[in-house]
Amino acid sequence: MNMVALIEKKKHGDALDNAEIEYIVRGAADGTIPDYQLAAFLMAVCFTGMSDEETAQFTACMAHSGETVDLSAVNGTKADKHSTGGIGDKTTLIACPLVAAADCGVRVAKLSGRGLGFTGGTIDKLESIPGLRTDLDADTFIGIVNRVGVCVAGQTKSLVPADKRLYALRDVTATVDSAPLIAASVMSKKLAGGSDVIVLDVKYGSGAFMKTAEEAESLALRMADIGKRLGKRVSALITDMHVPLGRAVGNALEVQEACAVLSGRAGGPLAELSAALATEMLFAAGADSRTVCADRISSALRSGRGLEKLAEMVEAQGGDPAYIRNPVRFPQSQVRRTLYAPSDGWVAATDALAVGRAACALGAGRSSKDAPIDHAAGILLERVRGEYVRSGGALATLFADSIERLDEAEALLADAFRLQDKKPQPTKTIYKTIC
Ligand code: URA
Repeated sequence: MNMVALIEKKKHGDALDNAEIEYIVRGAADGTIPDYQLAAFLMAVCFTGMSDEETAQFTACMAHSGETVDLSAVNGTKADKHSTGGIGDKTTLIACPLVAAADCGVRVAKLSGRGLGFTGGTIDKLESIPGLRTDLDADTFIGIVNRVGVCVAGQTKSLVPADKRLYALRDVTATVDSAPLIAASVMSKKLAGGSDVIVLDVKYGSGAFMKTAEEAESLALRMADIGKRLGKRVSALITDMHVPLGRAVGNALEVQEACAVLSGRAGGPLAELSAALATEMLFAAGADSRTVCADRISSALRSGRGLEKLAEMVEAQGGDPAYIRNPVRFPQSQVRRTLYAPSDGWVAATDALAVGRAACALGAGRSSKDAPIDHAAGILLERVRGEYVRSGGALATLFADSIERLDEAEALLADAFRLQDKKPQPTKTIYKTIC
């Protein structure tokens, strides 16, 4: 096969057949196709797109480009969730233990990644718990899923190697924001993860890849189509990411907030979305009607069984569960600063993108793949959308390891808050559910 001819074909918007797609994905995984030809192919896809059939074939080839996870030794239906990424998104730490605690025979065997950019990924958040390990071998991973009902491990290097190469190229060739490329990238990792059911949280807003609800819905439909073509049950929630999810942004701070939700001490959009995702995981797994699934999740939350399940999972992964049962144990950075309101007003917006940039400047995110992360750094929003603040009242507290970082982040964060005289209309966290 000739890669130049395949790039030419895609450049003109013609569909590639299965053998051609397989050739490109294999060449991406084993290095036989050079970067410049892959980059040209990616740009051609950006301009001319891919049909649903091509996207599904591309995804299937990517999913099988490396090792896949065999979950056949796990008892019960396996449900996974995936968020397209947002600021302060710690729903995995809440929804996954709730699913296990609901005791409906649905288990969660989840592989997650580290964050690159504004905040950490789920693995970074979990690693703020002393002792906790995410580099688990397959037997340990499956053993914990069977015993506890939930386990969150790191993706191995050999999982979907074609995506690793293509994603790195997309990052440096302005080809990230293509719906078929995003859909194939996300879904290939979910397929390789081996679960029966996949619940997607597709976000829109300033802190998300997709800026509008319509774009997010179209991406969600594409991912659901891929899943169904490849034999998986897929549901998607289209959710708001104009503002951060919850009040905490930063790894250890987010774990503490997840514990607060699981112990009934925090509500709002974070609790609402986490419960909705957990409900959808049970429902898509066929546990019962949506109403009964919602009741099971609500009972797991109210009874504290969800929090206990997270503590059990942390202990099984080598972490100290005392931090989950008593989150004040997490060390807090003493280098901190409060951002004060310049006037009285209602908070109309806390721009997610600006909060994410400020958190990254504090050390809570990574500027490059291997950069270190400060688990204690981050932001606590003292006021969020829809709340009132008096002039001189606290808007946010910033945590870092140096005054320089606080200075940089404070300047970025000051622009994130928009205050107004009138109470803003309430907004929906969940715009739509697709199943
Ligand atoms: N997340 C992924 O895993 N891949 C993308 O392309 C975008 C977000």
